[in-house]
Amino acid sequence: MQQDLQTQIQQLPKVELHSHLEGCIQPDLVRTIAQRNGISLKQDLFTADDMFAWSDFVGFLNAYDEASFCLRKPQDYRDIMYTYMQQCAEEGTIYAETFISPDHAAAVGMSYDEMLSGCVQGIDDAQRDFGIVGRLIISCVRHLGPEQALIVAQQLVDNPHPYIVGFGMGGNESMFTQADFAPAFNVAAAAGYACTTHAGEVLGPESVWDAIDNLPVTRIGHGVRSVEDPALMAELVKRGIALEVCPGSNIALSVYPDLASHPLNKILEAGISTSLNSDDPPFFATTVGSEYQSAAQDFGLDLQQLRHISHIAMQASFADADTKARLLAVIG
Ligand code: ADE
Ligand code: ZN
Repeated sequence: MQQDLQTQIQQLPKVELHSHLEGCIQPDLVRTIAQRNGISLKQDLFTADDMFAWSDFVGFLNAYDEASFCLRKPQDYRDIMYTYMQQCAEEGTIYAETFISPDHAAAVGMSYDEMLSGCVQGIDDAQRDFGIVGRLIISCVRHLGPEQALIVAQQLVDNPHPYIVGFGMGGNESMFTQADFAPAFNVAAAAGYACTTHAGEVLGPESVWDAIDNLPVTRIGHGVRSVEDPALMAELVKRGIALEVCPGSNIALSVYPDLASHPLNKILEAGISTSLNSDDPPFFATTVGSEYQSAAQDFGLDLQQLRHISHIAMQASFADADTKARLLAVIG
């Protein structure tokens, strides 16, 4: 790819709508945090070349849980959030929405408030130092089941904070149905929170139908397998439902064998509102900046199309209207 296009993409204002705080911990930071908390990490958490070690989707979720297990203090959350936002800002990102999981904090005895205060501090410090704006989406964990999800949704509603803008769900898509989580999503939506759920990543279009027909979602995490059903693609356009697309994650998790098979272009050509995202950057050896570069290099998008993606992403963000308007003006 031409050097000047690469530089222009580097400088382009970017928007990330789909990353998981627990999936943003760099191996070095995991070791630092584990050491200061007196926790010994499993020997097999890292590969010989210092990546997280896992080989399939469930293995990835286990490595992700293992890395989160060393987080014990607000400072730990602050440091991950700050480091992640710094890297985003260095790549031109002006706005990032990050999922945080109260279930992961609770698993090691941390309260919702402790987790939140660390994340808020990280966001404030990063905005002060790099100008980037951060917001949070409280996420339940699908494989922990609908009852636990309802508890998380209720925690969200009972603990409002101006940086918390939405409710979401990650985890193992093969367990339960989307509809099973309607009580949790309805509690969050009734309190005014925008909603998104992971669907059409591991499972096919039926999972996306299940989500859009049963949950009050305006966005879908991934949703890439919607391309297997033309009627669903048309429905996503009709309802204005946005897809949080994460090509690097999809290749790493073997949703597609390679970028040549990835449906990003089909999704864009269908006119579906689309953002480009990193998901869990160190786990998948990616960043939001690399995803934009890859969209040019591997999918043939030009600078104008990438700017349009930033614009669409900002519009699909869960930020308040003033923040949206201000950052849309920056994207131009
Ligand atoms: N949690 C973190 N990353 C995830 C992914 N790609 N799919 C489902 N749950 C996740
Ligand atoms: Zn995700």
